[in-house]
Amino acid sequence: MPDYTAFAAAARALAPRAAVVLGSGLGGVVTAFREHVSIPFGDVPGLVPPTVSGHGGRLALGEWGAEPALVFFGRLHFYEGHPWGVVCGPARVAAELGARAFIQTNAVGGIHPSLGPGSLMGVAKHLTLLDGSAWRTPVAASPYSPRLLDVLATAKAARGRTLLTGTYAALTGPSYETPAEIRALAAMGADVVGMSTAREAEAAAALGLEAAAVSCVTNHAAGIGGEPLDHAEVVRNALLAADRLAALLGAAVAAV
Ligand code: HPA
Repeated sequence: MPDYTAFAAAARALAPRAAVVLGSGLGGVVTAFREHVSIPFGDVPGLVPPTVSGHGGRLALGEWGAEPALVFFGRLHFYEGHPWGVVCGPARVAAELGARAFIQTNAVGGIHPSLGPGSLMGVAKHLTLLDGSAWRTPVAASPYSPRLLDVLATAKAARGRTLLTGTYAALTGPSYETPAEIRALAAMGADVVGMSTAREAEAAAALGLEAAAVSCVTNHAAGIGGEPLDHAEVVRNALLAADRLAALLGAAVAAV
């Protein structure tokens, strides 16, 4: 196992342009990734080991298809008690290691009627309903790269299916929403709801990286499907669209 200095030297040699973040239960999507070397989050300056089940917590360097890439297996959440600087640490590390794009995946609850379990959505915009900044932080523009979103939405890799694009509502968690909160989010224009991604995308864009995100719908949002929600269901359903997600990520990585 290398230390960070050795890992960073290997990264400089391979020169990955894309960094991919695999969220809850999504680590299994990496069939096309050939890993050269990896390092636990805890050994990366500014990161800490994650605490959530389903999140591996390591940073790997290798090739995604023919492209050198960094892959974060797992992410750090605000609800784990980390400050935003740590939650956004992977974006900073990706920039430090020379990446030009920060491509995130996440598990979400589907709010829009066409986004049931197993659906994927390209994130075009987000609503940040996070700590005291909700309603107050003026975010000038969406951090998501229209170019990468277009690559995702038009990729042949989508296997004949159009990738829906829409709005991700970011809440802090850790509890799932109430049905009333989901109705409010729907009225605000949210298509999916999750507990990550938004601040990290903003941090990546502020660092000059192209940001992109694909949401994997693991469940109907509260009150929409009727069934109660739990983390085990989220992890179980995360890979329903694994092949399609892998193909989309491959297309995005190749386009960076
Ligand atoms: N709400 C918030 N976050 C989530 C959900 C949800 O329904 N499913 C997966 N992550």
